[in-house]
Amino acid sequence: MLSSLLTVAAYAGSAIALNNGVGKLLKMGFDTFNAFVCDYDEVKVLVQAEAMVKYGLVAAGYNSIILDDCFTLKNRSVDGKLVEDPAKWPNGLKHFTTAINKMGISASAYSDAGYNTCAGYPGSYGYEAQDLETWTEWGFDYLKYDNCFIPFDNVTQENIYGRYERMANAIAAHARKTHSQPMWLSLCEWGWQQPWIWGKRLGHSWRINGDIKPWWSSLASIIDQASFQYWSSDFYGHNDMDMLEVGNTGQGNPIGNLTYEEAKSHFTAWALLKSPLIIGTDLSNATKETIEILGNQDLIKINQDPNIGEAISPFRWGINPDYVSNSTHPAQYWSGNSSYGIVFMVLNTEDKSADMFFNLTESWAIRAGHLYSVYDMWSHTNNGSALRNISLTLPPHGAAALLLNDAGPEPNADTLNLPYCAGYWQCSFPNGTYYSN
Ligand SMILES: *[C@@H]1O[C@H](CO)[C@@H](O)[C@H](O)[C@H]1NC(C)=O
Ligand SMILES: *[C@@H]1O[C@H](CO)[C@@H](O)[C@H](O)[C@H]1NC(C)=O
Ligand SMILES: *[C@@H]1O[C@H](CO)[C@@H](O)[C@H](O)[C@H]1NC(C)=O
Ligand SMILES: *[C@@H]1O[C@H](CO)[C@@H](O)[C@H](O)[C@H]1NC(C)=O
Ligand SMILES: *[C@@H]1O[C@H](CO)[C@@H](O)[C@H](O)[C@H]1NC(C)=O
Ligand SMILES: *[C@@H]1O[C@H](CO)[C@@H](O)[C@H](O)[C@H]1NC(C)=O
Ligand SMILES: *[C@@H]1O[C@H](CO)[C@@H](O)[C@H](O)[C@H]1NC(C)=O
Ligand SMILES: *[C@@H]1O[C@H](CO)[C@@H](O)[C@H](O)[C@H]1NC(C)=O
Ligand SMILES: *[C@@H]1O[C@H](CO)[C@@H](O)[C@H](O)[C@H]1NC(C)=O
Ligand SMILES: *[C@@H]1O[C@H](CO)[C@@H](O)[C@H](O)[C@H]1NC(C)=O
Repeated sequence: MLSSLLTVAAYAGSAIALNNGVGKLLKMGFDTFNAFVCDYDEVKVLVQAEAMVKYGLVAAGYNSIILDDCFTLKNRSVDGKLVEDPAKWPNGLKHFTTAINKMGISASAYSDAGYNTCAGYPGSYGYEAQDLETWTEWGFDYLKYDNCFIPFDNVTQENIYGRYERMANAIAAHARKTHSQPMWLSLCEWGWQQPWIWGKRLGHSWRINGDIKPWWSSLASIIDQASFQYWSSDFYGHNDMDMLEVGNTGQGNPIGNLTYEEAKSHFTAWALLKSPLIIGTDLSNATKETIEILGNQDLIKINQDPNIGEAISPFRWGINPDYVSNSTHPAQYWSGNSSYGIVFMVLNTEDKSADMFFNLTESWAIRAGHLYSVYDMWSHTNNGSALRNISLTLPPHGAAALLLNDAGPEPNADTLNLPYCAGYWQCSFPNGTYYSN
């Protein structure tokens, strides 16, 4: 009786999103793939876990580790079961997951909706239920599900949606059968078939793009894509813009190749666009700047806002005309609501420093005729109050992240000699005469 009441309550809150008791807020954690590809084992991942604790990242909310590919043997056992790789997990995977659980970190698995994973390990097509049981035995509670080596259409008689639905159904059935929390499902079909439209029926996040690369042009094109898909993110289902490439990318580039300002813009956009915050860099020798950026509590608390699930959205593209896609010069002026105030992101997409300007009322979330206090989420300072507009100078590829709070009605516009209306055409005196600024 109790459980059926809970089910009804869960569905009532959300018409389309998969509100199955997990995944309301965004996942935060560390993923092995971009830093190590397949070259990792228990010792190496435990070093990352220790670094996450030592640098305060677990306390900041990064509380999961995704073993992204390559953690099993390449062949299943005779009875079809996945086999943990004894060279990587000499003490067994369960021992590893227990060890990180004790550090406040949960363990996340990875597999694929085809014959093989992308690195050529066994995929879960046709083994969905069996693999779920195995991952549960090993102590995983989250699944990143990839899209390589897919069977022919005459085999699946299905589309991408149908292959992912097989796993979503297996998860629901497993949770019912075992009276346990459903596994959290993260779809990784790379945005092939508009997962921002259907992903929320099956999982809690869906990749909208191919793999991120640790350089600016890659970030810019993902932000451009997100400027057309932000609307899809809300509680229980989010666009996934891929991993955070802040820090040591571990692949021949010890400091990464983003500038400090680019790395800040990267984190600002991912946090405020409500992407999962999954670290994709080697944390073992993280710099002070890397930790400062990944640990930005002002941005994390908005990413993890318990009351507002929506992402920021662009109110003006800036350099390019509104609603025009440009993968090198994405939208520059963004805003949205949060529990802590109205959020603004201003992005300088140019290769040189630039003066940026916006009127407060360009954002839907602002009340016209009000002053706003301004808090800077990178300097973590109160920066006075804004009347009508904000001007900023931003370094190349730099971003500002501002939190504005209503500071009451502005003084009479006559005394300030300011327009009575903020740029709107159909503004009138009470006697019915149109007013023009
Ligand atoms: C995996 O199984 C295939 C087919 O049964 C076999 O040919 C191959 O040698 C096996 N590979 C390993 C690494 O055991
Ligand atoms: C699917 O098509 C391929 C290529 O024509 C064929 O080799 C295979 O036997 C077919 N499989 C099934 C299950 O029909
Ligand atoms: C970063 O990598 C890109 C792509 O390889 C390259 O074009 C760019 O010059 C690199 N930038 C720096 C600062 O190393
Ligand atoms: C980098 O981190 C590793 C693992 O924690 C440690 O053994 C090594 O001494 C560190 N190297 C430097 C240069 O700090
Ligand atoms: C993108 O914007 C830049 C800057 O305005 C412009 O030079 C470039 O031609 C645009 N690219 C496309 C594909 O429109
Ligand atoms: C913004 O969110 C807060 C907190 O949920 C809410 O009280 C407020 O009404 C929202 N403002 C707008 C403009 O939606
Ligand atoms: C806010 O003030 C701080 C401290 O003076 C400064 O570093 C920061 O650049 C200011 N932010 C903005 C957006 O002007
Ligand atoms: C910005 O607002 C100020 C009042 O705070 C006003 O004097 C100024 O003209 C505005 N700038 C623009 C470009 O609208
Ligand atoms: C800002 O507001 C001023 C005064 O209302 C107006 O002239 C100007 O066009 C506005 N600028 C933008 C970018 O909306
Ligand atoms: C309406 O009121 C405005 C402001 O007082 C005044 O400038 C305007 O002349 C009035 N129009 C008429 C038709 O009375």
